[in-house]
Amino acid sequence: MSLDPVLARIDADLPQAIARLQTLLRIPSISTDPAYKGDCDAAADHLVADLSELGFTASKRPTPGHPMVVAHTDGAGPHILFYGHYDVQPVDPLDLWDNDPFDPQVEDTPKGQVIRGRGSSDDKGQLMTFIEACRAWKAEHGTLPGKITIFLEGEEESGSPSLIPFLKENAEELKADIALICDTGLFADKVPAIVTQLRGLLGEEITIKGPSKDLHSGMFGGAAINPVRVLTRILASLHDDEGRITVPGFYDGVPELSNSLRASWENLRFDHEGFLGDVGLTTLAGEKGRMALEQLWSRPTCEINGIWGGYTGEGFKTVLPAEAHAKVSFRLVGSQDPHKLRESFRKMVSDMLPPDCTAEFKAHGAGPAGHMDTSSPAFEQARSALSDEWGVEAAYVGCGGSIPIAGYFKTYLDMDAMLIGFGRDDDQIHSPNEKYDVESFHKGIRSWARILAAMS
Ligand code: BES
Ligand code: MN
Ligand code: MN
Repeated sequence: MSLDPVLARIDADLPQAIARLQTLLRIPSISTDPAYKGDCDAAADHLVADLSELGFTASKRPTPGHPMVVAHTDGAGPHILFYGHYDVQPVDPLDLWDNDPFDPQVEDTPKGQVIRGRGSSDDKGQLMTFIEACRAWKAEHGTLPGKITIFLEGEEESGSPSLIPFLKENAEELKADIALICDTGLFADKVPAIVTQLRGLLGEEITIKGPSKDLHSGMFGGAAINPVRVLTRILASLHDDEGRITVPGFYDGVPELSNSLRASWENLRFDHEGFLGDVGLTTLAGEKGRMALEQLWSRPTCEINGIWGGYTGEGFKTVLPAEAHAKVSFRLVGSQDPHKLRESFRKMVSDMLPPDCTAEFKAHGAGPAGHMDTSSPAFEQARSALSDEWGVEAAYVGCGGSIPIAGYFKTYLDMDAMLIGFGRDDDQIHSPNEKYDVESFHKGIRSWARILAAMS
């Protein structure tokens, strides 16, 4: 089956493909907020209908949380499983959006046309690149270039609570020769990438309690312990002066970068000044003596994601608060064990508490880092397909973000995963004014058409 007419059809059909993406983007499928449960369901229904129309046997599969979408089609060739997620992040702060996040528009910008709206890049625009590639194959040749299963999750942005049970219960149905995941980015504006390793994630919420109620800081200050002071002291001690993390045992299982990987990443000539400059920064702030890509891809981190307590409203109030709170996350690499580290972190915090203070912990996500085995011929096939589409050689890269399923495919289904995506660093995923470049969308669809051709 020839590729050229498929590519031509993709080009001709681009306006309709954008309109279809806009329809999906209008559904506010925010997975973390129970108020949008019906919308998550509606997004799953919409995808089931779209995939059915495309000739897939598609179904919405209930879970204790939001439904999964699973769709199958027959075809001669390798069995490929494609994964994406239809859920999106919350939109707040809403006042920082220039337009309604769920009324996506195509916009002209100095760098080209973009589709703006929540989920345009993470991950609805990306998952639609694959579905549109299938649509074009099917329209041109009446069939797909392989046996394809599409698996779409609706809880990725809220820690994938139903994923492992679902993979276990449906292992036979989901197992394929290889998994393709479209939820990552290009290496640079015009340089395609295949992600070979991702960081894991551990999330913890701490509450420090001291006095039994909020106090007047003039009447009690000096004599009474202040939980915000206790909390900030603990948080400040999580890094040493070298930028290393002080949680006991934290570096167990953190490997040094191999010489070959170091050489290959150096060869990418990452422009860290431009990368930081785009967000108003100048200076690398991670562990001392590590190059930027190492800090981003292969070193673990600890970030304070939120901190609150006391009076933060208008004006001023001399309060000595009864409680202080923080959300802290760790990005994990190598074989760092999230569950061991959670315990070690909790012990460290508890050991630092002064008299009269207590700490309570709430567990958020916990997933290890993922390392892809690139020995399957699919990797080189995809790499050359990507290079053909983009006109430059595709790079093997790491990813600082986390996609829990990438590692689970190996653990629970014994299949390798290949992560290819077309997002850009300035897509503002999870932030106001998220966008996806029309070029990412268009060339993303063309890339998948080529990859499918190369693999079949
Ligand atoms: N698509 C992202 C992962 C990602 C981030 C890829 C940055 C490439 C660049 C994914 O949807 C995501 O946001 N993951 C979360 C973890 C999840 C458990 C909430 C993350 O990395 O924080
Ligand atoms: Mn994503
Ligand atoms: Mn995300």
